[in-house]
Amino acid sequence: MSITTRRAGEADTELLHDLAARTFGLACPPGTLQADIDAFIATHLSVASFRGYLADPGRILLLAVHDDEPVGYSMLVDGPIKDPDVAAVIDDVSIELSKFYLAPDRHGSGAAAALMTATLAAAAGTGASSCWLGVNQQNVRAAKFYAKHGFEVVGTKRFLVGAQWHDDHIRRRALP
Ligand SMILES: CC(C)(COP(=O)(O)OP(=O)(O)OC[C@H]1O[C@@H](n2cnc3c(N)ncnc32)[C@H](O)[C@@H]1OP(=O)(O)O)[C@@H](O)C(=O)NCCC(=O)NCCS
Repeated sequence: MSITTRRAGEADTELLHDLAARTFGLACPPGTLQADIDAFIATHLSVASFRGYLADPGRILLLAVHDDEPVGYSMLVDGPIKDPDVAAVIDDVSIELSKFYLAPDRHGSGAAAALMTATLAAAAGTGASSCWLGVNQQNVRAAKFYAKHGFEVVGTKRFLVGAQWHDDHIRRRALP
């Protein structure tokens, strides 16, 4: 078994959309309407969305690959923090870890750790001094995973999925 990571490129738009469509709902709290999940995927995780993300110089997308199969992806977003709840608690040059998703049959496999290592190295390579993320407050598995990788809760924010606002924790960790 070999888990590798690599930067995603233009040729990966379809597979990024496929991974995102399969995994986005896993991060939502129980009771999230399927219609809201579908609307979020259609608006923010379509093939066209990923084409735009990949063309944006402020974003870095990475893939985790198990043997030849892509099993997870991450996306970093550089630039000024727009959410006032985040800006209120982050006062250094911080890059957002906007997406971090593994296919469900790869949870607990170590692929997430490999992807996180590569993602943090890419984040540090931008010159940012820290990395921040938002994660649903009910997502216990992700909370444990992020805590293991040094992300501490520094505040709260809200996240819109379809027509519903969800409650997130803001987590931050310093970069080397
Ligand atoms: C979040 C994610 C990337 C973590 O990857 P992973 O391979 O599951 O992570 P790990 O197994 O290394 O760590 C998860 C920890 O939570 C624990 N855990 C698993 N299920 C749990 C549950 N239901 N309740 C509490 N803890 C749980 C695991 O035992 C492990 O802890 P341990 O290392 O002390 O044993 C992956 O689960 C995922 O893609 N989830 C769906 C998408 C998502 O939520 N992404 C985050 C969006 S912000």
